[in-house]
Amino acid sequence: MERVREPELMDDPDQALAYARADFEEENQGFVDRFVEFYPEFKAGHVLDLGCGPADIPIRLARKLPECRITGVDGSPPMIAIGLDVICVAGLADRIALRCERFQDTVLPERANAVISNSLLHHVPNPLQFWYTVKKLAQPGETPPGYGSEDRRGAKHPRCNNECLSDRRSRVDQKYY
Ligand SMILES: C[S@@+](CC[C@H](N)C(=O)[O-])C[C@H]1O[C@@H](n2cnc3c(N)ncnc32)[C@H](O)[C@@H]1O
Repeated sequence: MERVREPELMDDPDQALAYARADFEEENQGFVDRFVEFYPEFKAGHVLDLGCGPADIPIRLARKLPECRITGVDGSPPMIAIGLDVICVAGLADRIALRCERFQDTVLPERANAVISNSLLHHVPNPLQFWYTVKKLAQPGETPPGYGSEDRRGAKHPRCNNECLSDRRSRVDQKYY
């Protein structure tokens, strides 16, 4: 099967803003609800979100699991800037930290209790780097990584993620700005 990849980082400021404004409430809340449903015993600890974008999923997860702290990693400076603003407005700066770096470069003082990621893999040149990072940064035997959306996108658009992204962008609202 031919792999159709998007550019790795969404580091164009207009693109990041359009993405942050798009309405992903159903998808992102669904991701968080399924995480909680699949891992009901997971109530507290450190969650790592790889390719966190504008931090909508970390915010939703922090609200759902008040004893968790979350670190989001994204290599796009404009995405991180938007995420930091939104986290501040949400009053969650004490529980959500963002790091502007490629996940391939992420080093943590301690391994995370859970690793989540949504809509990242189709950006990554070598998908093995993603799974290697999960193995490196997650505590062995802890909650398995929650990973979402590549299959959902695939179901809608089996051959081209760009179409899916266009769909999403056409639903831009004024959520953040
Ligand atoms: C489609 S967005 C998904 C954002 C978020 N997970 C969500 O579901 O709303 C993909 C994000 O992954 C980031 N990204 C892509 N490759 C990355 C890498 N190697 N390291 C860190 N972030 C990366 C992009 O900059 C972009 O913000």
